[in-house]
Amino acid sequence: MSASFPCFTDYATRFRASVDAALSARCPHAEGSPARLTAAMRYALLAPGKRLRPMLALLATEACGVEPERAMPAACAVEMVHAYSLVHDDLPAMDDDDLRRGRPTCHKEFDEATAILAGDALLTLAFEVLATEVRPPETAAACCAALAQAAGRCRLVGGQADDMHPPQADRLDPEVGLEALEAIHTRKTGALIRASLQLGGLCAGASARQLAALDRYGRCVGLAFQIADDLLDVMSNTYALGKKVGKDAAQGKLTFPGLLGMEPSRRRAEHLIDDACEALAPFGPPADGLASLARFVLERNR
Ligand code: IPE
Ligand code: IPE
Ligand code: MG
Ligand code: MG
Ligand code: MG
Repeated sequence: MSASFPCFTDYATRFRASVDAALSARCPHAEGSPARLTAAMRYALLAPGKRLRPMLALLATEACGVEPERAMPAACAVEMVHAYSLVHDDLPAMDDDDLRRGRPTCHKEFDEATAILAGDALLTLAFEVLATEVRPPETAAACCAALAQAAGRCRLVGGQADDMHPPQADRLDPEVGLEALEAIHTRKTGALIRASLQLGGLCAGASARQLAALDRYGRCVGLAFQIADDLLDVMSNTYALGKKVGKDAAQGKLTFPGLLGMEPSRRRAEHLIDDACEALAPFGPPADGLASLARFVLERNR
């Protein structure tokens, strides 16, 4: 942790309770929604994750000099998309995981059909929240478009599809492999992280230059985040991580440590985080929260 920035955990403490309360309030039991479906949605959404994406949205708004709470609906929407993506990622047809955020995965706690449907409903709810709560309507439309693009077939879902079925040729040539791997990571994980920042910027009424700076930061943090996730799958333990480790190698996934080795992967992530912090220079001290979050991405053990 750089001495010049407040510790990330200070920001996490500052926002955690309000983010969780905001998420819970937007996903209540509702007439017409089967109780078991809502229970599965709330189970996945409110489980003890790090809430990094909502924090990125709130801190992006703050970096632009606006009260972070302005971005709370957008912060909730990105976490809903994230939670859905985890529920589906853990399904037997995908990564087939039993443990998520220190608890049984949604399909283990409920059942497969309920988990699939809870994911569907969380994804849909995200867009309802944006469309009904973000003001003015032009900003709501811009947020919906940005989140739809990030979550869609060319980005998050496309990255997940390539993660499941990477072209075999890519594994043979290390250079082609690295390009393919980056394309997977920047889409399956990086896109939603970038979108979190864009939505935060849009809610703050950011200028085109500010949005571009947030995007540069988001690209770097997004890729570094998934490199760190790959490293943790090798180095960490199930207790700290709250999910099973060693799964990537067991499932033959294309990963940074698998392709480059541990130390070069770590250095790559460090360079990306340095770049991310450089991109924040035009914002000055209001972007300290984003800087501390970027450092946390490297230091995290969960
Ligand atoms: C896990 O994301 C899935 C990836 C995209 C690597 P997080 O590590 O942010 O998961 P939670 O939200 O803290 O559980
Ligand atoms: C997940 O990547 C990316 C998305 C959920 C979109 P991983 O499969 O590596 O995430 P974990 O390790 O299961 O959290
Ligand atoms: Mg996966
Ligand atoms: Mg997985
Ligand atoms: Mg992983």
